Amino acid sequence: MIRSLIKQFNANFRWGVATAAYQIEGAVNEDGRGPSIWDTFSHSPGRTFNRDNGDVSCDHYHQFRQDIQLMAQLGIPGYRFSVSWPRIFPTGKGKVNSRGIDFYDRLVDTLLQANIHPLITLYHWDLPESLQEKGGWMNRDTAYYVRDYAQTLGEHLADRARNWITHNEPWVVSVAGHLQRCHAPGLKRLDKVRVVAHHLLLSHGLTVEAFRASGYGQIGITLNLHPVYSASDQEQDLEAQRLHDVFQNRWFLDPVIRGTYPVALDQILPPISDTEVKDGDLAIISQPLDFLGVNYYAPHKVFYDPAQLDKASLLIREDEPVTAMGWPINAHALTDLLVGIHQDYGPIPLLITENGAAYDDVLEAGQVHDTLRQQYLLSHWQAVRDALALGIPVEGYYLWSLLDNFEWALGYSKRFGIIYVDYLTQRRTIKDSGLLYRNLIQEFREYHQKSF
Ligand code: FCB
Repeated sequence: MIRSLIKQFNANFRWGVATAAYQIEGAVNEDGRGPSIWDTFSHSPGRTFNRDNGDVSCDHYHQFRQDIQLMAQLGIPGYRFSVSWPRIFPTGKGKVNSRGIDFYDRLVDTLLQANIHPLITLYHWDLPESLQEKGGWMNRDTAYYVRDYAQTLGEHLADRARNWITHNEPWVVSVAGHLQRCHAPGLKRLDKVRVVAHHLLLSHGLTVEAFRASGYGQIGITLNLHPVYSASDQEQDLEAQRLHDVFQNRWFLDPVIRGTYPVALDQILPPISDTEVKDGDLAIISQPLDFLGVNYYAPHKVFYDPAQLDKASLLIREDEPVTAMGWPINAHALTDLLVGIHQDYGPIPLLITENGAAYDDVLEAGQVHDTLRQQYLLSHWQAVRDALALGIPVEGYYLWSLLDNFEWALGYSKRFGIIYVDYLTQRRTIKDSGLLYRNLIQEFREYHQKSF
């Protein structure tokens, strides 16, 4: 099965795993790190499941050597991680905290010694709390602080780390964080949500510009994208499908790739003013990228619902297979998504920067038989293969996640790892899905050694 699967993947295809700083590092008060909005949010009553927080998490800050060793043991060639901004600038700007830089220096060096290539996300949601006090993403200045922070990281790491992602899922930051209140900073600001998104995108563009000028390597952005299907072919459901696609996907794809906001966004969200989108902003936002990062978990099937901003609600049938997140399992939709992006947005290389599944894993006699996760992963690798067979330029696949970790508002209740973490002892156990991934990568390597 695996053997026939890997033939479609060319020798340069990048296999990897992904994590994010606040979800795994712990050590929140160590070596001069400042607080982030996720510290504040997770320590506020009622915000996270079980009042869980990232104070200790997987203790990766101290265990990173062991974690890299585990990756090496599985033969994983690529590692996507994020940098905690408040470790580098404890208040978001000003004087660099060199002990924060040192940690990522050690991390990158240890990865390279293990022959694992780093892919660094600059912003995976942990805004320094001091910047939130100045308005956070509602304040345009934040975009310029991102550029300065990114530039600092580039100066220190780009001699060894050549692959960068500006943002992870700015849609989630905008909507979950500033409209739905379920992510930090926990606001409901319908009047500001487009400005927040615009500043996130502006910071992306400014960072790309700075990295290009300094020659820091390859750079892209990661979006959470969902292929949208209509629940029926009735006119109203089709309208819901169209608007939901704008809200969910095109709000971010269009400015990044085409340099425009979709006109239909005005039907969904209050308009943004000319003083907020300044002349030249969209040109900065839409500079050519080396790749588009795609996070894919599930499709959205929608029906018409006038109570929603985008006139759409998700339809999930009761008998439909779902993961522990309640997300429908549909690998074919990943192929549709990749084909659709390629058709609509042109030949930009695509990198799957997250894909994976949560299940209620059980550790028994030192093993985790996560059969359902294995099925999920295999079918999604096949879906990538199908896209490659259709000529879609997919360049890599990063599995979410290396370790079970702090799943944001859901705390430690959801396990996404291919490595099980016992949070009381910090003991790691490779799940069967980890062994499956090892086999896939091993077969891939052997196949390409033979074919060259
Ligand atoms: C994505 C996030 C990632 C993780 C997965 C399950 O939206 O980027 O940090 O929480 O979902």
